[in-house]
Amino acid sequence: MLPNAHAPYSDFRVAAAVLDDQGRVHLGVNVENASYGLTNCAERVAIGVAVAAGAKRILAVGVTAAKLHPIAPCGACRQVIREFADADAPVASDALDGSLVVTTAGALLPGAFLSLVQGEG
Ligand code: THU
Repeated sequence: MLPNAHAPYSDFRVAAAVLDDQGRVHLGVNVENASYGLTNCAERVAIGVAVAAGAKRILAVGVTAAKLHPIAPCGACRQVIREFADADAPVASDALDGSLVVTTAGALLPGAFLSLVQGEG
């Protein structure tokens, strides 16, 4: 997937995979734009692909940039992950040396805004 990333501005390619509530895996890559702020991260692209395919919940997230160190999802992606993933859903990030850092969606964003989950929506 990494070769499919559209990252001509940062040259930083990212790929993400999400496991949905039907046992399916959906993939995404970062999609940058000449107007830099319009960039979509790989995680949010993968979640959008999952939702478009009918996913209702995300059970796990994986992300890679094939770099020396694992990367951490940005703040916006953390909020979007929590929209669809429970606090205890694993979020894994790997590195070139084969190491894998696994945390949870809730640990990545304590206090996420969750109006639907909290019944306020
Ligand atoms: N990026 C992602 O796709 N996911 C992350 O977790 C971190 C950052 C992208 C955004 C941008 O295209 C590039 O990496 C450099 O920030």
